[in-house]
Amino acid sequence: MQFSVTTDSPASRATGCVILPLFENGPLAPATQAVDEACGGALGRLVDIGDASAKPGRTRLLPGLEGIVAERVLLTGCGKEDAFDAKALNGAVAAAAQVLGETGVTDVTSYLSQGGAAGVDAYYAARITVAAASGATYRFDELKSEAPENGKLSRFAIAAGTSGDASEAERGAAHGQSIAAGVSLARDLGNRPPNVCTPSHLADVARALAERFERLETEVLDEDDMQRLGMGALLSVTHGAEEPARLIVMQYTGADDKSAPVAICGKGITFDTGGISIKPSAKMDEMKFDMCGAASVLGAMAALGDLQPPINVVGVVPACENMPGGRATRPGDIVTSMSGKTVEVLNTDAEGRLILCDAMTYASRYEPRCLLDVATLTGACVVAVGHLYTGLFANDEDLAAELLEAGKRSLDPAWRLPADDEYGEGLRSNFADFANIGGRYGGASVAAQFLSRFVDGTPWAHLDIAGAAWHPSGKRKGATGRPVPLLVDFLLNLK
Ligand code: BES
Ligand code: MN
Ligand code: ZN
Repeated sequence: MQFSVTTDSPASRATGCVILPLFENGPLAPATQAVDEACGGALGRLVDIGDASAKPGRTRLLPGLEGIVAERVLLTGCGKEDAFDAKALNGAVAAAAQVLGETGVTDVTSYLSQGGAAGVDAYYAARITVAAASGATYRFDELKSEAPENGKLSRFAIAAGTSGDASEAERGAAHGQSIAAGVSLARDLGNRPPNVCTPSHLADVARALAERFERLETEVLDEDDMQRLGMGALLSVTHGAEEPARLIVMQYTGADDKSAPVAICGKGITFDTGGISIKPSAKMDEMKFDMCGAASVLGAMAALGDLQPPINVVGVVPACENMPGGRATRPGDIVTSMSGKTVEVLNTDAEGRLILCDAMTYASRYEPRCLLDVATLTGACVVAVGHLYTGLFANDEDLAAELLEAGKRSLDPAWRLPADDEYGEGLRSNFADFANIGGRYGGASVAAQFLSRFVDGTPWAHLDIAGAAWHPSGKRKGATGRPVPLLVDFLLNLK
């Protein structure tokens, strides 16, 4: 979808549809009022007779009105005006785009944010609008033999109130578009089936991104390289698989070499059967989403390639399958990680931490200013925060605060969970430095504690996206592209 900004008035705007806000129990919003006056009061009458609801998410599509240039008008419920904040704007745009995405309209103009929204400046209003419209019209149909009939909505204009707002809105729309492209990429990768989205596929996509963006470089390590580096933890996870493992290293260079990069590791298990500690078969298909951390790193790197901010970022993606088999790692096997620490693998289904610990040790070679990791790491995190929040764990207060803020601003929220040393007590092993599992309770914090043992001194944050990365069932089943918006917002606002 192509996004733009306009200062045209709603009644004279030449467009397939003007999207107008309706607020509960108040006068008509200025844009809605302007259209109402131009068409002789038709909108006001519709509201008066109770045919157009202002409840959030409700919409009413009207065909061409006398006195209005646009071919259609969409009245969009925005709830109470004083509660119209970033989240409400996001919901209203998504509802409008969803409805219009199912009509024949090709280009539309939204006046939903023209009157502003509480706590949202023109930049963020435009960015949120783009993200919401792009997210609501996303489809994954590359593997349907007959493409389902989709809408043709391809151009989306955002109305700004003043020319000063318009330039800020243009910047917001441009950022929104780059972020939305990163989100769509992450969603595509997550949604692709595990026989297509293999470790090699992730590597191919990462290479293609480096071809496309000047400041992006990709290097792909194979199993021999990993062997030479001593990545015994990562390699132990891929032992049962026929599909070869890959370690994907992407570098975005927007600042000079001396500027320390942000390092981001993303869990890339392209299918998690659990290995010898095999998972129950119900819903096992969802374990194709176990590479959504990796997908979010690729998505964020793509957005950076497009936005070109003056920073350095290195993305490290360990990618492999977790399969049972004659050569698979057994419960009780002891492996030596790249850091030299030995790990007793008591449960082969706790594999994410094993691939991440070696990726994090590898990332530390870049002497990063901070280290992030993103992973669909634990079912326990879903129990703790459900699907609404990413679980955030950090050894640094400032870093945690910045990530929480980035999540709030980009409507991709995280919730901080504890990572005290005490959570690591259960990892004690009689036979190795420690085990890969601890007690049952606080499992997300135990996993975080395991990872923290591979960080020395660097400010570090771990994002457990086990709940946030995909919608598990129903019509919306599929990858969300989270936490690409959080990551990119954080990177754009680095101090
Ligand atoms: N990929 C899973 C975590 C997961 C499970 C995410 C369900 C989303 C939904 C991870 O590799 C895993 O299996 N974790 C185990 C850890 C346990 C063995 C300590 C879990 O959460 O059960
Ligand atoms: Mn697992
Ligand atoms: Zn997993």
